[in-house]
Amino acid sequence: MIENKFIPKPYPNTIENGSFTWSSPSNIALVKYWGKKEHQIPENPSISFTLDNCKTTTALSFSKKENQEEFSFEVFLDGEKKDDFKPKIKTFFKRVEAYLPFLKTYHFKIETSNTFPHSSGIASSASGMSALALCLMSIEKELSSDVSEVDFIQKASFLARLGSGSACRSLEGDLVVWGKHTEIKGSSDLFGVKYPYEVHENFKNYRDTILLVDKGEKQVSSTVGHNLMHGHPFAQERFKQANNNLSEIISILKKGDLDKFIAVVESEALTLHAMMMTSMPYFILMKPNTLEIINKIWAYRKQTGSKVCFTLDAGANVHVLFPDAETKNVLEFIQNELVVFCQKGQYINDKIGFGAKQS
Ligand code: DP6
Repeated sequence: MIENKFIPKPYPNTIENGSFTWSSPSNIALVKYWGKKEHQIPENPSISFTLDNCKTTTALSFSKKENQEEFSFEVFLDGEKKDDFKPKIKTFFKRVEAYLPFLKTYHFKIETSNTFPHSSGIASSASGMSALALCLMSIEKELSSDVSEVDFIQKASFLARLGSGSACRSLEGDLVVWGKHTEIKGSSDLFGVKYPYEVHENFKNYRDTILLVDKGEKQVSSTVGHNLMHGHPFAQERFKQANNNLSEIISILKKGDLDKFIAVVESEALTLHAMMMTSMPYFILMKPNTLEIINKIWAYRKQTGSKVCFTLDAGANVHVLFPDAETKNVLEFIQNELVVFCQKGQYINDKIGFGAKQS
């Protein structure tokens, strides 16, 4: 499937070499993407908060090369050569080659670093792939005569999606939707869009403290998990539910209804893991401490009337979400009752951010 809209016209300019650097955030989904069709098309729409502190910075240096038949690149993480990152990047290059016809004309040096520990279990594919897509777009912009800012971001998101689905939600905006939804104007399966409707004060500067429960490498990758949704007995119901939850989120965000927000977000997190537990083969990514934390959050909420809630991604770590106004109390609660369940007591305080930046 080729999307003609993203195939560039012949480039009027040439460049021999250069370097671009972008810093791109991670994101946490409220309504989850779990299940995809061919060509990285999601089975259902999703929406995420953009994070502010969890970022990947990528410098992409490039120089013209003689042999233009193969991709040529090297990857470094924190200055160390990382050959094990290469297969994923090669797959990405293959998928986007039709849209970036200069890819085989340069040798690339990709130097990347994360603001969060690489082995934290925090997905770096969203921030990593979006930062790389942005660097590639900066090259395309130099080669072209006119690329508008809107087209630049949209194509970067389109490319990032082909690297990792959730990466297309890491370009710009505090709330980002990916996947066609009838009630969200401009939404598309091909790229993420800034959430276009009114958002209540309650959701401004929302907080996310990420509790690092298990920093080990995941036993089952997201890509494998997505594939297990093919033929999954509950798949169709799940996709319907995600669509309905997105419809609900529109009015929740508008009215600032924190109780309904909690219900949708926690249900989404548990449904995601329920899909893993009910696929064939089945698997569990939560750890005993994940459940300890969830129970503590529920008890704290009952005791205090707090609006704190949790969400999970495809791993054991817990994202603790809460309104800005509750920061002091919830951070105290985390410190007193939850940190003991984190590996080496590690956690990351984050809040909602607004997207990627060039540097
Ligand atoms: C559980 O985007 O990592 O975080 O497209 O195969 O790279 P690929 O998967 P990925 O899946 C993320 C799934 C999730 C939910 C979400 O972010 O919506």
